[in-house]
Amino acid sequence: MSTQIPESETESNAETETETETERESEATGAARAATDRDYAAEQRERTQERLEAADTTLDLKVFRYDPEVPDKEEPRFDTFTVPFKKGMTVLDALMWARDHYDSSLTFRHSCRQAVCGSDALFVNGQQRLGCQTQIADLGEGGVPGTVRVEPLPHQEVVKDLVVDMEHFYDQMEAVEPYFQDEDTPSGLEEQRQSRENREKIKMSTRCIWCGACMSSCNIAAGDNQYLGPAAINKAYRFAMDEREGEELKEHRMNVIEQEHGVWRCQTQFSCTEVCPKDIPLTEHIQELKREAVKSNLKFW
Ligand code: SF4
Ligand code: FES
Repeated sequence: MSTQIPESETESNAETETETETERESEATGAARAATDRDYAAEQRERTQERLEAADTTLDLKVFRYDPEVPDKEEPRFDTFTVPFKKGMTVLDALMWARDHYDSSLTFRHSCRQAVCGSDALFVNGQQRLGCQTQIADLGEGGVPGTVRVEPLPHQEVVKDLVVDMEHFYDQMEAVEPYFQDEDTPSGLEEQRQSRENREKIKMSTRCIWCGACMSSCNIAAGDNQYLGPAAINKAYRFAMDEREGEELKEHRMNVIEQEHGVWRCQTQFSCTEVCPKDIPLTEHIQELKREAVKSNLKFW
């Protein structure tokens, strides 16, 4: 009796064999890749160790870690990275060294590295500071500190590691209409002149880089989610005091500033002024707006 395998069955056997071969090939490729990764990681560890041994001074960077999307990392914790110290090293430099040599998943924001973009405000050794502006050597008493502790900005929701959600901060800034408006838009390219004195008055308030350090340091903002906060009030000051906007707009701006969760919430604690990396006299500006608000509401019969 002749046994004939149906054509469709032969085809399906051939397909299964091809699939098994493909699987074997991909397993082999995966194993080879894993071995290369392991070699690379071992080499990297060796190089890191050599650099640490060659360094005159090292410091321990104690960094807050949290990743809600990775099962093993969803519990907040601190990781310590030993980093070689170099003269002129900033906290941001140290973080980048740790990320590049130990753990590429270490997450933090940065961009300009020169205190301009405002993206790397952090809580370093218990104070709000810009990572790129903070010299490691300035953190120790009389030299390089043994340990530097880096945490995300307090009073903000942590997205991952040192990255916080800035949405609420931006909403508060948006609420004060942080852009120049004028009553009589000049035609064409006509200049809108400002007196030297007026420019001088608003000069410091224009320096804000939207880093959020002041908001994070403010106890009132921590307790009242609707409080405009020092940065937004400073921004409102910058435009309310600009003579080019005119009286009508100033009145509109004062109404925003004077609202229930505006300037009157400030309790003059100066914490915002202390941490502002651009040295803006925030508390002073808030007090001046309070005086303006009182003056504009005074009525003489
Ligand atoms: S006022 Fe100062 S601390 Fe606040 S956001 Fe602006 S630059 Fe940062
Ligand atoms: S990286 Fe831009 S302010 Fe620090």
